[in-house]
Amino acid sequence: MADHVHAGKAFFGRSVVSAEDFTKDEILALLDAARSYDRFEDGTPSFQPVPATLQGRVLGLLFFEPSTRTRLSFESAMLRLGGSVLGFADARISSFSKGETLVDTIRVVEGYCDAIVLRHPKEGAARLAAEVARVPVLNGGDGSNQHPTQTFLDLYTIREAAGQLDGLKVGFMGDLRYGRTVHSLASALLHFDVDLKFIGPENLRLPSDLRGQLKQAGRLGAEVTQLADAGDLDVLYVTRIQKERFPDPMDYERVRNAYRVDREALAPLGENLKILHPLPRVNEVATEVDDLPGAIYFQQSRNGVTVRMALLDLILGGRAGAGAS
Ligand code: NCD
Repeated sequence: MADHVHAGKAFFGRSVVSAEDFTKDEILALLDAARSYDRFEDGTPSFQPVPATLQGRVLGLLFFEPSTRTRLSFESAMLRLGGSVLGFADARISSFSKGETLVDTIRVVEGYCDAIVLRHPKEGAARLAAEVARVPVLNGGDGSNQHPTQTFLDLYTIREAAGQLDGLKVGFMGDLRYGRTVHSLASALLHFDVDLKFIGPENLRLPSDLRGQLKQAGRLGAEVTQLADAGDLDVLYVTRIQKERFPDPMDYERVRNAYRVDREALAPLGENLKILHPLPRVNEVATEVDDLPGAIYFQQSRNGVTVRMALLDLILGGRAGAGAS
């Protein structure tokens, strides 16, 4: 525990570009800190009332791609900690539409706020922004590359629901090729003793660099096209087919209905299976699944607030950072 507390201080003033940039102790420190914001009363999740540790601090939210959860949960987290937000949710109303570069936008917006959350369609945009910015940059998703803050809340959700991360069999299902949440989470899970399996259409398999990394670490488990062939699972992480990333729309048409989980497909996996999804879903998870006790994707999206509260507080040196020296 002491190691975790110490590791938490490593977040102070730091950008969050890739889940791979964080050690196991740092990740566990964040997840422990997030727990302190959670409150369960009569089984109903709510939030602990917290002091306004980020009062007077401003978070910039620059979203060059659509978002509901990431943007609003960052906003909720910042407001709950007493801070404020500014930014745009649609790049068409920013000077991007006049031809301004990302670097210039960052150089301007860093003058208006204490940290920036950036979502951008280009892989590597967050790394570039973090290099030029004088304030921490938090990657809210860069193309099909990474989505590290989603990974932190995914890890938090799995750990709270399953009791631990080590020893689990985790299946990823869906768009393994373009899904940034899959890429981030799979690489972060390399810190833990987990068995990783991949279920999806042939042409949406993992990118070769990530596949190679998992293979080298001895963690590349079954790669199958059907859930029924994946064997035992403790966690099933389903993702949407990332329509917007397909260079050829016809390729999307060919796979759009390639998989769907319903109660019948999930029954052989047993009642203890935890079903996660970063959301939004289109048709890959039937709504009849929502009432299963293991269907925790709405809880997962809610955890985005507590985990991002912990992250912002650690990075901006609020409550947790106050003791840092
Ligand atoms: C995901 C994303 O944007 O990568 N959404 C999210 O942040 N929760 C998943 C998706 O869009 O399919």
